[in-house]
Amino acid sequence: MEKPMYGKFCSQQLWFVILVSFSLGVVLLCFDYSALFGSDNGDVLVLNNYENGVTTTVDSESNHFSGNYSDDDDDIIAPLPRNPLVVVVNQTDSVALEPTREKKGVVEVKDESDSSCLGRYIYVHDLPSRFNEDLVKNCHLFTRGTEQNMCPYLVNLGLGSRIQNHEMVLLNDSWFSTNQFLLEVIFHNRMKNYKCLTGNSSLASAIYVPFYAGLDISRRLWGVRTSDRDSSAVDLLKWVAGKPEWERMWGRDHFLVAGRISWDFRRQTDNESDWGSKLRFLPESKNMSMLSVESSCWNNDFAIPYPTCFHPSKKDQILQWQDKMRRQKRNYLFSFAGAPRPDLQDSIRGKIIDQCLASGSACRLLDCNYGATNCDNPVNVMKVFRSSVFCLQPPGDSYTRRSIFDAILAGCIPVFFHPGTAYAQYLWHLPKNYTTYSLYMPVREIKDWKVRINETLLGISEDRVIGLREEVIKLIPKIIYADPVSSKSETLEMEDAFDVAVKGILERIEKVRELIREEKDPSIGFSDGDDYKYTFSAYGGELNVTI
Ligand SMILES: *[C@@H]1O[C@H](CO)[C@@H](O)[C@H](O)[C@H]1NC(C)=O
Ligand SMILES: *[C@@H]1O[C@H](CO)[C@@H](O)[C@H](O)[C@H]1NC(C)=O
Ligand SMILES: *[C@@H]1O[C@H](CO)[C@@H](O)[C@H](O)[C@H]1NC(C)=O
Ligand SMILES: *[C@@H]1O[C@H](CO)[C@@H](O)[C@H](O)[C@H]1NC(C)=O
Ligand SMILES: *[C@@H]1O[C@H](CO)[C@@H](O)[C@H](O)[C@H]1NC(C)=O
Ligand SMILES: *[C@@H]1O[C@H](CO)[C@@H](O)[C@H](O)[C@H]1NC(C)=O
Ligand SMILES: *[C@@H]1O[C@H](CO)[C@@H](O)[C@H](O)[C@H]1NC(C)=O
Ligand SMILES: *[C@@H]1O[C@H](CO)[C@@H](O)[C@H](O)[C@H]1NC(C)=O
Repeated sequence: MEKPMYGKFCSQQLWFVILVSFSLGVVLLCFDYSALFGSDNGDVLVLNNYENGVTTTVDSESNHFSGNYSDDDDDIIAPLPRNPLVVVVNQTDSVALEPTREKKGVVEVKDESDSSCLGRYIYVHDLPSRFNEDLVKNCHLFTRGTEQNMCPYLVNLGLGSRIQNHEMVLLNDSWFSTNQFLLEVIFHNRMKNYKCLTGNSSLASAIYVPFYAGLDISRRLWGVRTSDRDSSAVDLLKWVAGKPEWERMWGRDHFLVAGRISWDFRRQTDNESDWGSKLRFLPESKNMSMLSVESSCWNNDFAIPYPTCFHPSKKDQILQWQDKMRRQKRNYLFSFAGAPRPDLQDSIRGKIIDQCLASGSACRLLDCNYGATNCDNPVNVMKVFRSSVFCLQPPGDSYTRRSIFDAILAGCIPVFFHPGTAYAQYLWHLPKNYTTYSLYMPVREIKDWKVRINETLLGISEDRVIGLREEVIKLIPKIIYADPVSSKSETLEMEDAFDVAVKGILERIEKVRELIREEKDPSIGFSDGDDYKYTFSAYGGELNVTI
């Protein structure tokens, strides 16, 4: 029963969890803890001992948040600040106080006679605020295990505070301290400016359900009973399925957007030691699609880019940045930003770090273990990535990392080691032919992996490097989320990651609609697992490097 459900990709994930859980005698939460703490580039491994409610950060890329918490944290209901988007501003961020940046909630419905909107209309459910705005207001409660809370990251409509002191590394006015897990908030705010919104759901091609699933679950991932982890999902789905829009396609024209990885919502049993909520296995949810920063192997999950810290509002800013990256001098052959995994001897990261150190000045290691702000600060990350020809992107605690998009942003050619890190994920945003923009060094068995990264990279011709880099730089507009306040795709004159995602989901729903028109059963395959999706064999090639 279990085997076909998990498939290869899934069973690897399971294997990883089980192995480490048993070998360390604790439950491994293999996902990212930094959601709550804004470890910008990082992957953090957290060991959670449910017995006494103590969380130990074994390996953190921003080491300022290891520590203790009590199981009662979630029960503390502090009085709500009246307007949290203002209250939380306690930094050099005057922009956050601008009234335009506080507009929220109300969706402005656009002119419905616009013919360019045919087939593109989206209806946004007006959810009770407990499913979204209240989570933002309660940002100060997301404090488990750290002094920090999420509030500073929620200013500027989820972009975080503006980066003022960027040492000339970044561009003025378009960089923010963005938390990598706030996609759901940024996406929702972008949607409020979407050109083809409609208030008439019968005109809509898609129904967006703006539930902040990631924020919701991040309060409950550690030491919380499964029934409590699932309660808001159950509540939400009951609400959504009770609306007249539901019956039209039994939810198949509905979509969610989550800022955390899909696995956080894919708990398969009610065993307390299993990870996450079962949002995506609830019957209504199975009929819906979900976009998130990392998809699972189920067909109704789609991956879209992590938000980086670059949120331009004008085309010029994008062109200026691309130009800067083209002209950038790159002194390092390759680099890696991340932390070792001392407790996972077999981790590819250990090998990569060893090889980086053995390569002397050819490789730059940005060690996220030292200095809390090392990898939190996009200035540091961009300084390293823009000076490197290649950026190594091994899987972290899950398959994907925001660092992939930081690399692309810096014009640094990404090097992947597992198909689940990008190729099988960002199908709408990255080219199908992955050899055009990246290098692939698959690692099936770490113990058998003998590739010398430095020598392999040195063997790549200058022409190929130039071609790859130009492709990477061309991808930049598509992987960034423009500033939700001032930008619409029309004013940006370029498609950003939001536009590409909207197009992707509209096409997906249109395909389902076609099936219904042809009187075929749209449920067939809709939420099935696809074992093949993230396997190495799907992405052939031993070392796909053309020298
Ligand atoms: C965690 O709690 C233990 C026992 O109460 C204490 O000794 C330790 O200093 C605490 N650690 C932190 C980081 O607060
Ligand atoms: C604002 O930040 C400063 C320095 O980070 C801190 O000392 C102060 O207590 C903060 N104020 C509030 C209201 O949080
Ligand atoms: C960017 O900001 C810095 C410091 O605020 C200023 O010195 C510089 O002139 C600005 N650059 C541009 C291109 O506006
Ligand atoms: C909504 O759109 C439908 C289909 O075009 C139309 O028949 C209906 O009158 C519209 N409803 C409102 C309230 O405008
Ligand atoms: C729950 O999971 C743990 C660890 O994976 C396992 O030891 C236990 O037998 C499971 N319990 C049930 C009821 O399946
Ligand atoms: C899901 O869709 C099917 C039709 O394909 C429908 O029969 C079923 O009731 C839907 N599930 C829910 C919970 O609405
Ligand atoms: C390449 O890396 C290996 C270790 O993986 C090291 O022994 C070798 O000296 C390096 N070669 C160069 C040219 O840096
Ligand atoms: C993929 O791109 C490479 C390099 O640009 C090219 O040589 C190859 O033919 C392409 N493969 C396919 C299947 O299009």
